[in-house]
Amino acid sequence: MATTQELLDIARLLAREAGEFIAARRDTVSVARTKSSDVDVVTLVDEDCEALLRERIASLRPGDSILGEEGEDVVGASGVTWVLDPIDGTVNYLYGLPSFGVSVAAVQGPARTREWTAVAGAVSDGMGRLWSAGRGLGAWVDGVRLSVGSGPQDLAHTLLGTGFQYVAARRSAQGSVVARLLPQVRDIRRQGAAALDLCLVAAGHLDAYYEHGLNAWDLAAGALIAAEAGVRVGGLDGEPPTEDLTIAAHPAVWDELCEALAAAGARGLFEALD
Ligand code: IPD
Ligand code: CA
Ligand code: CA
Repeated sequence: MATTQELLDIARLLAREAGEFIAARRDTVSVARTKSSDVDVVTLVDEDCEALLRERIASLRPGDSILGEEGEDVVGASGVTWVLDPIDGTVNYLYGLPSFGVSVAAVQGPARTREWTAVAGAVSDGMGRLWSAGRGLGAWVDGVRLSVGSGPQDLAHTLLGTGFQYVAARRSAQGSVVARLLPQVRDIRRQGAAALDLCLVAAGHLDAYYEHGLNAWDLAAGALIAAEAGVRVGGLDGEPPTEDLTIAAHPAVWDELCEALAAAGARGLFEALD
């Protein structure tokens, strides 16, 4: 059975290698195909980067399972699953914007957000930083320990991050929630890479973040990094962070943000659409 430190070391190694891999290919990137909508793009680099991560896991941890955005699930017997987003922020990567990264997490238990325990996670970003955390060990950016500071005094002084889906009807529902929140906060940021948004809350560059409709690979590493930095992470009503809704907030504004989200219709947002 691997220790948390061993899984953390591997997560860091993989995120760093994959980060270098995608950085080196940025100038020649082009769209390979689309997924949930015409604007949900996949590049050859997304596919090649995930293939690289899978090869490395197969050689370093042959008995582990893999849940990755761009490939088939691999089921192993060890109880550890690697949850992979080979490029988070693909649209930024394509457009030459710096907010993108590689997200690698090791989870234990069923490979489902509601049931797993995230053990280790690492996110390498387009600025060359490596964010990481081990469950119970803490969170770091490069060698610097992350720990939330005093935080905003209230929701009105909160810099809030969020993100949107690629499907128009879902975006429309998300737009109605964000329109209700916008007058209540300091300002809103939409950086375009969920894994990094969660890291930014861990470092205090955002006070809070929420998003509906994330995938497991968007949140696995970032939610652990935020939580290990002292950020409160979850859904409404005591749930863990899931595909339905992921909220990460400085503890000082958690209650106020959850109340504002609930009042803005954030519960079950996509239910009528699916
Ligand atoms: C997307 C980004 C974006 C978020 C979307 C994700 P991708 O991931 O994280 O910020 O709003 O929900 O799907 O497609 O760039 O890997
Ligand atoms: Ca993603
Ligand atoms: Ca991706």
